Amino acid sequence: MKLLTLFGSPRTKGNTAALLNSFLEGVKGKEGVEVELINLNKKDIKPCQGCESCRKPPYLECIINDDIQDLHKKVIETDILVFATPVYWWNISAQLKLFIDRLYALAGEEGNYKCLHGKKIVILMTYQGSDPNSGAKLVVDAFKDIAEYLKMDIVGVLGVCSQVPVKENQDALNKAFKLGEQVIEQ
Ligand SMILES: Cc1cc2nc3c(=O)[nH]c(=O)nc-3n(C[C@H](O)[C@H](O)[C@H](O)COP(=O)(O)O)c2cc1C
Repeated sequence: MKLLTLFGSPRTKGNTAALLNSFLEGVKGKEGVEVELINLNKKDIKPCQGCESCRKPPYLECIINDDIQDLHKKVIETDILVFATPVYWWNISAQLKLFIDRLYALAGEEGNYKCLHGKKIVILMTYQGSDPNSGAKLVVDAFKDIAEYLKMDIVGVLGVCSQVPVKENQDALNKAFKLGEQVIEQ
């Protein structure tokens, strides 16, 4: 089983990283899992230009030549996609949004059609505002619609308020660890 993590925070030692690290510890405790961590902030991912080339014959890959070509291959090969993001302005981070927009090339009705179907999604979020956090709810609602459209399956969601730094929030770290174990057992 392959698990691909799309890490969308610019802070590699911040709250989202702490939550993700604990989740991955839970994952790595299980046998037969291949984990790959992508730091989106370090990738060259240009914004989708809406040219629709990917949806016209001969349905080739995205015509923008940047790191997305390699990432698309990894997405196609993986079983589980983990999206880890801070909530920025009631939404996902810009780093993750660039990546999500470019998934358009894998979601047309020809060419790569169906290559995302059946894959599993996990959403990890941190946010400063208190619970229940309306930004986190909007993020999950958007992913629910994305998953329905792409026939994907959301198998785990964890949102944590970072007013107490996540690395000091043992309850949140435990929840992330257990979620990591669970998504592999499913
Ligand atoms: C540009 C920006 C926008 C933010 N917008 C929100 C928001 O809409 N709602 C919220 O609860 N927190 C918001 N926050 C706070 C972050 O989500 C929070 O501090 C998060 O834990 C940061 O994660 P990190 O440590 O991985 O960077 C924002 C922070 C920044 C820098």
